[in-house]
Amino acid sequence: MTAPEWSKGLEGVVATDTKISLVDGQNGRLIYRGYDAKELSLAYTFEEVCFLLWNGHLPDQNELAELSQQFRKGRELPEHTRKILKELPQDMSMMGVIRTCLSSLENTFFSWPPTIEQAVAATSTVPVIIASRMAYLAGKEPLKSDDSLDHVANYLYLIHEKQPSETQIKALTVYCILTMEHGMNASTFASRVIASTESDLISSVAGAIGAMKGPLHGGAPSEVTHMLNDIGSKERAEAWITAKLENKEKLMGFGHRVYKTTDPRSEALKEMTKQLAGENSWLDLAYHVEEIALRLLDYYKPGRRLYTNVEFYAAAILKAVELPSELFTPTFTASRMVGWTANIIEQSQDNRIFRPQSIYTGSVPENKEKPASRL
Ligand code: ACO
Repeated sequence: MTAPEWSKGLEGVVATDTKISLVDGQNGRLIYRGYDAKELSLAYTFEEVCFLLWNGHLPDQNELAELSQQFRKGRELPEHTRKILKELPQDMSMMGVIRTCLSSLENTFFSWPPTIEQAVAATSTVPVIIASRMAYLAGKEPLKSDDSLDHVANYLYLIHEKQPSETQIKALTVYCILTMEHGMNASTFASRVIASTESDLISSVAGAIGAMKGPLHGGAPSEVTHMLNDIGSKERAEAWITAKLENKEKLMGFGHRVYKTTDPRSEALKEMTKQLAGENSWLDLAYHVEEIALRLLDYYKPGRRLYTNVEFYAAAILKAVELPSELFTPTFTASRMVGWTANIIEQSQDNRIFRPQSIYTGSVPENKEKPASRL
């Protein structure tokens, strides 16, 4: 039998077609349903872009009002999920908590086929799960959601236990819109594989969260914070970065597998940070480190086309809105729920179960020494 062509990690393999997003690495563009994600993030609300990803068009006023209402309905966790949240071990990771609590929501409402109503219900609970866990860990009762606030603003309100500023809401909204969806990444692929078996939406999302939890996928933004904390001051930047590159180490928040030009998400986030600069001097250090790093990367890695990726300014934004670094990946998860669920629904609309092949590299009985008889 001749072996089929293959590629480790399915690199370069087309797994499906989609109308949801295009990651255009050569031209540095990210497109959601025909719109430039960067422009959407600066001009639209989180809920408007959710509607776009789920439905394929931007909402009119009535559609938006209806969606906002559905979002608010989903903020109430069922009693059994609250009990589970209280009982989970203290040392369980926040990603494990989100995965477990979402799993506990499964009931007949979430049965196959996946729907937009299911997607809203699952998405709207994630910030509440995160904030409730934070409250229980601190020995407090979680706050009740504020229904006058949208999804992103309510998340900040629940975490900080005070009304967020308009700038904070805008900054986190830009971040959440830009990280909602990003082509056939590992977690989105995982969600589509599970959905292709006609399993329920909650199971598909739980699998995606498991994939997102890995440091090779969702776990990078806190690394940028560690790097900037380690550098500490502008004066130390040049020597610190030079030492890393001399040592052939990688700088966190630079380079990307697909984007070989500026990551458009990083550009939009940087634009947003400029509005925050007055509120947080830590950003000054980030701008300085970027400037020095780009110059030194050009010197040490000529022709490699290394720029800041989404993680660099994501870390800056998340820190500026005062989210602790242990909430970086969970917050990424809260926004990526939208992309996963859009993909799960799209998968169901033209489904074929995923069943790739593997190349067996073990031995076969005719080449194997016969085991000695035990009799
Ligand atoms: N710092 C220093 N050198 C780098 C960096 C970096 N951040 N990124 C790539 N390089 C170098 C490589 O060492 C390599 O050098 P060489 O040709 O002398 O061997 C060259 O640039 C090409 O790099 P590759 O490793 O081939 O780039 P690849 O596309 O495989 O990797 C990756 C992309 C994994 C993101 C890499 O750039 C990296 O590790 N960056 C730092 C970690 C990071 O920021 N991760 C978040 C990515 S964004 C996201 O996942 C949502």
